[in-house]
Amino acid sequence: MVMIEPVTIQKGLDIDAIRRQFPILNREVKGRSLVYFDNAATSQKPQSVIDALVNYYTRYNANVHRGIHTLAEEATLAMEKSRDAAQEFINAASREQIVFTKGTTEGINLVASTWGRQNIRAGDEIIVSNLEHHSNIVPWQILIEEKGATLKVIPVSEKGELIIDEYKKLLSPKTKLVAVNHASNALGTINPVREIIDEAHKVGAVVLIDGAQSTVHLDIDVQEMDCDFFVFSSHKMYGPTGVGVLYGKRELLESMPPFQGGGEMIKEVTFEKTTYNDLPYKYEAGTPNIADIIAFREAIDFVNGIGKKNIKEYEDELLQYGTNKLRQIPGLRIVGEAKEKVSVISFIVDKLHPQDLGILLDNYGIAVRTGHHCAQPLMDCYRIPGTVRASLAIYNTKEEIDELVVGLKKAIKMLS
Ligand SMILES: Cc1ncc(COP(=O)(O)O)c(C=O)c1O
Repeated sequence: MVMIEPVTIQKGLDIDAIRRQFPILNREVKGRSLVYFDNAATSQKPQSVIDALVNYYTRYNANVHRGIHTLAEEATLAMEKSRDAAQEFINAASREQIVFTKGTTEGINLVASTWGRQNIRAGDEIIVSNLEHHSNIVPWQILIEEKGATLKVIPVSEKGELIIDEYKKLLSPKTKLVAVNHASNALGTINPVREIIDEAHKVGAVVLIDGAQSTVHLDIDVQEMDCDFFVFSSHKMYGPTGVGVLYGKRELLESMPPFQGGGEMIKEVTFEKTTYNDLPYKYEAGTPNIADIIAFREAIDFVNGIGKKNIKEYEDELLQYGTNKLRQIPGLRIVGEAKEKVSVISFIVDKLHPQDLGILLDNYGIAVRTGHHCAQPLMDCYRIPGTVRASLAIYNTKEEIDELVVGLKKAIKMLS
C-alpha cells in the first residue's frame, strides 16, 4: 500500500496541467503507469514540440537560407526565430553568437577542434574536473595528445563538491583552458561557475561551461557569468534530440578557424581560395537539422512559460522530498550530497548491483538510469561501479517518488 502524503503544489503551478501537455506520460510500461525519472538522460517532449515537428514536415518542409520560394522563406524564418529565442534564453549579447550544433557533445568537440587546435601548444595545461561527463573529458584528451599538452583535474569532495582551493592551486600561466560543467549529471552538484571563471580569467585562461544539465533548471545569463563558451542540448530541456547550442564570445568565434567545410559556411569558393561566411554560419556547414531547430523554440517557450524560478522551486521541493524518503530505506546511501544541487538523486544500496535494481524498477513501470552515467572517473574516485539515478523534471510528482520508494523496497527484498 503506497502512503500518499498531501502534495503542496507551488503557488501558481498546476502540475496536472503541465503533465497533460506530455502525451507520453499517459502510457503504461509493464502494465503500470509510466513513472519517468530519467530526465537527465533526456526529458520528455510537450505536445507543442511534437506539433511543431509535424507542422514543419506537413506544411513548409524546405531547405533554409538559399531558397527564394515561399516554403524556403518560411522555414528560414522559423529556424532563425529559434536562434533569437536561444539568444534571449541565455542572454547572449547577439544572435550571431548562437551556433546551432547537434548537442553539447558536438559543441565541445567544435571548440576543441577549432579554438583548441589553434591555441593549445606543447606544455600548455587544460583543466577539467572529476565531475565531468565523458564528453567534457575525451575531446580534450584527443587535443592534448595531438599537441603534447597536459590535462589537470579538479578533485571532488566526499559530498560531491569541487574542491575550489585545490582548483586554485592548479591554475598557472600554463593554464590555457578550464572546461567544467555547470551541474553534474551523475550527482546533481551545481558548481560555482562564477568563481571558477573569475579565477581562470586571472591567469588568462579561456573557460568553457558545459550547461547540459543546468539549462533546464537554472537561470542562465552568459554575459553575467562571463564564460567564454557555453554549450547545451535541446533534448535535456523538453526539446527535440539532435539540436544544441554553442555560445561563444564574439572575438573568440571571429578568430577561430571553421569546424567543418561545406555548403553554408562559405562566402565564396574557388579552387585557389575559399572565404568563410559570417557568424554564426561559419560554424554551420551543410543542411542544418531544420525541423528540430524549429521545434526547439517551442521547448524554450515551454520553459519560459513556467518560469525558471518556479521550476527551480518545485524541483527543489521534489529533490528534498525524494532525498528524505530514500534516505530512510535501510542500506541505501545517497551519492552526492552537495549543498547546491539540481534535481538529481544518485544512490547505491548495500551489496546490490545498480543494474539489478534498475531492471526490477522497470518491471514496476519506473524508469531510472543505472551505471556510470558517462562519468567513469567519478565512479572510480568513489570506488563504485555506478549508481541508480533518479533525475526529476517539472512533470514529476511526490506520488511518483512514493512509488519509487515502494518499488525499491520490493526490489531490495527480492534481491537480498
Ligand atoms: C553534463 C553533461 N555533459 C554533456 C552531455 C552530453 O550531451 P549530449 O549527449 O546531448 O551531447 C551530457 C549528457 O548526458 C551531460 O549530462
